[in-house]
Amino acid sequence: MAEIWVEKYRPKRVAEVVGNKQSVQAFVEWMRKWELGKPPEKKAVLLYGPAGVGKTSLVLAYAREHGYDVVEVNASDWRDESRMKSIVGESSLQATLDGTTKKIILIDEVDGIAGREDAGGIAALRKIIDETRTPLALIANNPWDPKLASIRDRCLMLEFRRLRKSEVIARLREIAKSEGIQVSDKVLQALAERSEGDLRSAINDFQAITGGRKVVDEKVLEVLGTRNRVKQIFDALRMVFNAKSIRAARAALEGLEVDLDMVYVWLLDNAPQQIPDPEDFADAMEALARADVFLARVNKKQQWRLIRYAVPIMTGGVAVSRRHKPSGFVKFAFPSRIRLMQQTSREREVRKSIAAKIAGKLHLSTAKAMAHMLPYISFIASNNPEEGKKLAEYFELTASELAYLSGGKVEKEKAKAAAKPARRTRRRRR
Ligand SMILES: Nc1ncnc2c1ncn2[C@@H]1O[C@H](COP(=O)(O)OP(=O)(O)OP(=O)(O)O)[C@@H](O)[C@H]1O
Ligand SMILES: [Mg+2]
Repeated sequence: MAEIWVEKYRPKRVAEVVGNKQSVQAFVEWMRKWELGKPPEKKAVLLYGPAGVGKTSLVLAYAREHGYDVVEVNASDWRDESRMKSIVGESSLQATLDGTTKKIILIDEVDGIAGREDAGGIAALRKIIDETRTPLALIANNPWDPKLASIRDRCLMLEFRRLRKSEVIARLREIAKSEGIQVSDKVLQALAERSEGDLRSAINDFQAITGGRKVVDEKVLEVLGTRNRVKQIFDALRMVFNAKSIRAARAALEGLEVDLDMVYVWLLDNAPQQIPDPEDFADAMEALARADVFLARVNKKQQWRLIRYAVPIMTGGVAVSRRHKPSGFVKFAFPSRIRLMQQTSREREVRKSIAAKIAGKLHLSTAKAMAHMLPYISFIASNNPEEGKKLAEYFELTASELAYLSGGKVEKEKAKAAAKPARRTRRRRR
């Protein structure tokens, strides 16, 4: 039994899908046309919108309720086009409504195809849509890439928006009731607010803070600090890059609960986008390099007083270098590339292997499993060994993978053997 709540409380019936009623209804009507043996004019739907709002859940719930098999493919997990053509293409050509096999083909992360260099994937998908005899449900977070225009034209477009706070709270309350957990409205409010309409993250946060307890009060909210920190650091970066003086830039870091090395990495990783002029950029890099010398000494020799020099150089130095601003708004990005580089390659392998296993169970791509689920599962496992064991069993993790998730280090030899390629498709009876 899955003890991961997002999966345990995935809607079993369409009526349980919270919010976005119009799109839900439109999907049901579109499916009904297939059921009636009159395929709709558009053979594919494209469910699009932000993470964790019920896109995948709607398709799975419908299939379960109406006795469909789901052929599930994550576009971002395909490595070769011919494979996807053979899996999706073949299933899509079998007439589905002969009373024996009812099938929905679910192609997730369609936006991932647009990002790829070769246009083969899009052409292949277009062909599948044109020829299909089976309902095709496509899913994307952002379907507006120009390269996807020909796909969009062929799809019934169904938008999914962030859920309302009241919708998130109501669902969390149902879960609390079912788990026999006593929780104050204030906690549910806080969870809903933080989630910004992403029910997956709200449920994950909820499970993480309860930590197996049956009474949950406001104190546990402190645990949620981390994600707020990301917001804090975005604000700080904005201040640093936009500061008009060294003093103002330096003030940006006051009261920030993030360590200085972290701030450094964020500055470094965001500088190229934020400082478009090459000369400005060179100056900023010079400042960061000098700050790095101090930071290295702080770390190696514990010479804390050197922080006094490092901070103004890295903040003020960057601020005064930036004489030209980028045209238009440039988002600050989480420095995933650098962070990933800092992980050892073995650690990356273990994470990937774990993520692939999580993805296999939770209807996600490996990349999404890594971003949306792994931190939570790791949090739960490291705080509650009993629960960790159950999770390891459920996800079929090796002992060393569990050890890693529970906060241990990577065990050298085993890690490599554990890394296994992701399963790309699954067929399940629903
Ligand atoms: N509208 C909803 N109604 C009920 N539960 C939901 C809803 N949206 C999300 N959830 C919960 O969050 C989990 C993840 O939702 P789902 O997989 O449907 O998100 P998604 O919209 O497909 O997100 P992504 O774009 O990241 O794939 C579900 O298993 C369920 O527990
Ligand atoms: Mg999804």
